[in-house]
Amino acid sequence: MTTTTPAAGSTAASSSAQRDYVAMERMYYQHTFNRGMVLDHGEGVRVWDDAGNVYLDLVAGIATNVLGHAHPAVVKAIVDQAGQLIHTSNLYINKRQVELAEALYNVSGGMRSFFSNSGAEADEGAIKLARKYGRLHRAGAYGIISFDRSFHGRTLATTAATGQKKYQDTWQPLPPGFVQVPFNDLDAVKAATTELTAGILVEAVQGEGGIHPGTQEFMSGLRAWCDEQNLVLICDEVQAGMGRTGKFFSWEHYGIRPDITTMAKGLAGGVPIGAMLAAPRADLFEPGDHGSTFGGNPIACAAGVATVRTILDDHLLDHAAELGDYLGGKIDTLAQKYSALITSTRGVGLMRAFDLAEPRAQDIMDRALERGLLITNAGPSTMRMVPPLILRRADVDEAIEKLDAALASL
Ligand SMILES: Cc1ncc(COP(=O)(O)O)c(C=O)c1O
Repeated sequence: MTTTTPAAGSTAASSSAQRDYVAMERMYYQHTFNRGMVLDHGEGVRVWDDAGNVYLDLVAGIATNVLGHAHPAVVKAIVDQAGQLIHTSNLYINKRQVELAEALYNVSGGMRSFFSNSGAEADEGAIKLARKYGRLHRAGAYGIISFDRSFHGRTLATTAATGQKKYQDTWQPLPPGFVQVPFNDLDAVKAATTELTAGILVEAVQGEGGIHPGTQEFMSGLRAWCDEQNLVLICDEVQAGMGRTGKFFSWEHYGIRPDITTMAKGLAGGVPIGAMLAAPRADLFEPGDHGSTFGGNPIACAAGVATVRTILDDHLLDHAAELGDYLGGKIDTLAQKYSALITSTRGVGLMRAFDLAEPRAQDIMDRALERGLLITNAGPSTMRMVPPLILRRADVDEAIEKLDAALASL
């Protein structure tokens, strides 16, 4: 651990120019992240660091700033709401919470919402609801089947549901009742189903695992299996939802409807929020079953209403599909040019990835950064791009030019 003493300052805002935030982070923040870059402000698809360098942002707070940075509709909603009512608790009805639930009811075809503060919490709520379903309708079943390479969060239950050993090993023993099977393998799901199984938790397009879309056969098969076995189907839309794939929910691509779906990340354009939506069959919570002090907070919900409205009013679903195809085509061209390094490409809408022959993701991110481009990875050998939905063709061209230069420099 470094012991560099940060430059002293009275208040953060007044003396920020003189303060060494990298040293301060090492001194005051737990070492949970390896990071060395200080971001200062953003606008649209661009962010600036504290040295004044500008970057084209294809990370978007990891699929979160769906409308880019400082979108006027989101800023106005937050400011207006802050002057009216910041927090109420859930002892009272707050108007923005109900309005956001109404908007999600409409886009989901009739699912009712429960709001939390993060994706992990939304998934926790879904797991609890599945357990309640199992208790009431499947003789006390409580088990959840999820998938290899999946990611569902960092709480203990969502870690148990996450199909990546690197997130699980240190925290054993994890809560019981979770099992993972290979993704896109319906026979494995059937073989893992027992009388204790209550539900299946799936990302229709796996995000952290490297942008792997489910096959049509698999997703329809899961729906049919849940109907046949009286299980609840939970679709985790935390990363793939909010229009990222060109549909509001990625499960819409498959013509199926889950019993429960979860959201977070982009739902409020960057303000912390999570949502767990239930179709009538699984809408079983009663007063006392679940709760949250901040969940559905007026500021988060005001930002959420503005974000959902902007996505719909500005036709960003079609735009994400179109720009996604454009970006995907450009990545394919890069893959041809660097065929020794790039082994495969894939994605849906503005959720794109390519695999590397060697574990050089960090190297590529560093070299892209030097050229003014933020991209991220999914493991050491996969690059990932999850840009704001407001991205334009000219931005894609600029990003690909920078990425090309970064790859050429390796
Ligand atoms: C699919 C999916 N589910 C759940 C989560 C957890 O969300 P959060 O980090 O908001 O707890 C993530 C985060 O990356 C995610 O991608």
